[in-house]
Amino acid sequence: MARAYNFNAGPAALPEEVLLKAQKEFLDFEGSHMSVMELSHRSKEYSQVHDKANALLRELMEIPENYEILLLQGGASLQFSMVPLNLLDRNLGASYILTGSWSEKAVKEAKRIGPVEIAASTKASGYHAIPPLANIHWNKETSYVHLTSNNTIYGTQWQEYPQTGHIPLIADMSSDIMSKKIDVSRFGLIYAGAQKNLGPSGVTVVIIRKDLIKKDESLPTMLSYHTHASSGSLYNTPPTLAIYLLSLVLEWTKDKGGVSQIEKLNQQKAKLIYDAIDESNGFYTGHADRDSRSNMNITFTLPSSELTDKFLQEAADEGFIGLSGHRSVGGCRASIYNAVPHEHCLALAEFMKKFKNTNS
Ligand SMILES: Cc1ncc(COP(=O)(O)O)c(C=O)c1O
Repeated sequence: MARAYNFNAGPAALPEEVLLKAQKEFLDFEGSHMSVMELSHRSKEYSQVHDKANALLRELMEIPENYEILLLQGGASLQFSMVPLNLLDRNLGASYILTGSWSEKAVKEAKRIGPVEIAASTKASGYHAIPPLANIHWNKETSYVHLTSNNTIYGTQWQEYPQTGHIPLIADMSSDIMSKKIDVSRFGLIYAGAQKNLGPSGVTVVIIRKDLIKKDESLPTMLSYHTHASSGSLYNTPPTLAIYLLSLVLEWTKDKGGVSQIEKLNQQKAKLIYDAIDESNGFYTGHADRDSRSNMNITFTLPSSELTDKFLQEAADEGFIGLSGHRSVGGCRASIYNAVPHEHCLALAEFMKKFKNTNS
């Protein structure tokens, strides 16, 4: 069966090898005569899955020993609340950099917990860009600085992160985690829903520097990082199937040559589509400023809404899935996460050139 050209923004394409392996093991996981979904989360077999996911995350992202890895539920959206609940000192407030709708949502939740200042925003210019580092200003005594590393909806991505010194830098990396090498030690906390680069929806990865984990008896148990850190993310029943698939995606990432190799492949894939935009003599217009372009979500428009509709219809007829822009921005968006094959990006770039030649 031919696989769809899947450009969905999330949940998104998974590696075919992962799906085949999961299929093979579905009824009988490693000779247990049970599906992985049927294992007790306290069993030896499941512990190995859980430990493997943790160990591979640490290895692939080179996560230092003074960081805890948590596998949680509630999506990145719950982290919009858990981060301030656990880390925002109401006397100091917290600083947020606004680069799109997800940062706005993070701010909205933080404001329920304590004072928030906006350290920089590109809202006035329609979120076309990441702010220049020189334009970001935070209160020297703030609890933390929060940013969204890749803006899934607008198609912008941080190329270089601010130096926050002793202030913890916190990043929502939902849509570019493990797509490129990063220095984890620059961050106090990183969080990401798995459903783009890491696996299916249902598990959220949180990487937190150990000294930021505080026991706070006033917090609801499940909303405290301390609860999950002190129980190896097994305080309650974890999403076992999602974590199993996460472990398979991590194995696949390692087999591909690890994060630096994936980064190179991602650059090549993105170039195919950005070249189709840049060489179209203005037929396609990229939403993001060039120096803020995302290698994960490529957003563009056509000269008219009629042509956009025609493009999306013909693309769908040719088997391209998920190319409509987010409902808040319109236009088109190709999400090309780690698991989207090079050949699918090539096919899209060819289709874009053909469509331009017959419609301009
Ligand atoms: C950058 C970013 N942050 C947060 C979210 C919300 O994630 P979730 O649906 O896991 O709560 C998304 C989802 O697309 C996202 O792209």
